[in-house]
Amino acid sequence: MRIILFGAPGVGKGTQAALLAQRFGIPHISTGDMLRAAMQSGSELGRKAKEYVESGGLVPDEVVIGIVRDVLASDACRSGFILDGFPRTTAQAEALHRIFAELKINDVQVVSLDVAEDEIVRRLLLRGRADDTEQTIRHRLQVYADATAPVKAFYAGKVPVREVPGMGTVEDIQQRIVAAVA
Ligand code: AP5
Ligand code: MG
Repeated sequence: MRIILFGAPGVGKGTQAALLAQRFGIPHISTGDMLRAAMQSGSELGRKAKEYVESGGLVPDEVVIGIVRDVLASDACRSGFILDGFPRTTAQAEALHRIFAELKINDVQVVSLDVAEDEIVRRLLLRGRADDTEQTIRHRLQVYADATAPVKAFYAGKVPVREVPGMGTVEDIQQRIVAAVA
């Protein structure tokens, strides 16, 4: 199972990816989690990422593309993976396509989660991560609309794109995704 979980901040990518990873026994690759872990550890990657993550802007493409390439090429991803939060720009999607070609991966599906914006803001304010302030959430949503939403058009006609409503309970949404990718 090779899934790109796509959608705006707060639609439930991380929540659903963790459940799918458990269900299918494959790695959950979240660039956001990796960047936050690097920031915690104070590594060079973390220092590079800090200002972007804290403000809700995007970390430069070459930085995240390099991380994802290494993970996808590792043995852990041989039988599948769930990408969460990557690709987020058309340049990242193009780079990912080249990585898939190099690794001879050709059975990828996009699952696109959709949630109403007021519900997104409600969920993120409730969660309260460092970048979940009202102002940063608004900025992340704008960055999503400008830079990330167009990635869906990149995939149209290249790989199957499964549209899944992201409103409702976590369990119901998980069932919808499992049915959509079967
Ligand atoms: P990232 O960590 O990817 O954050 P995001 O895309 O803004 O998304 P979130 O993690 O906030 O939401 P989610 O969709 O995972 O939802 P979740 O399951 O947590 O990125 C953070 C930053 O890192 C970026 O701003 C950027 O700076 C940088 N970055 C990362 N990737 C990058 C890339 N590729 N290129 C450049 N920069 C990059 O759910 C949200 C909340 O809702 C949780 O509290 C959850 O418990 C709750 N919830 C989930 N499902 C439901 C439900 N059904 N009902 C009610 N509550 C629910
Ligand atoms: Mg997340």
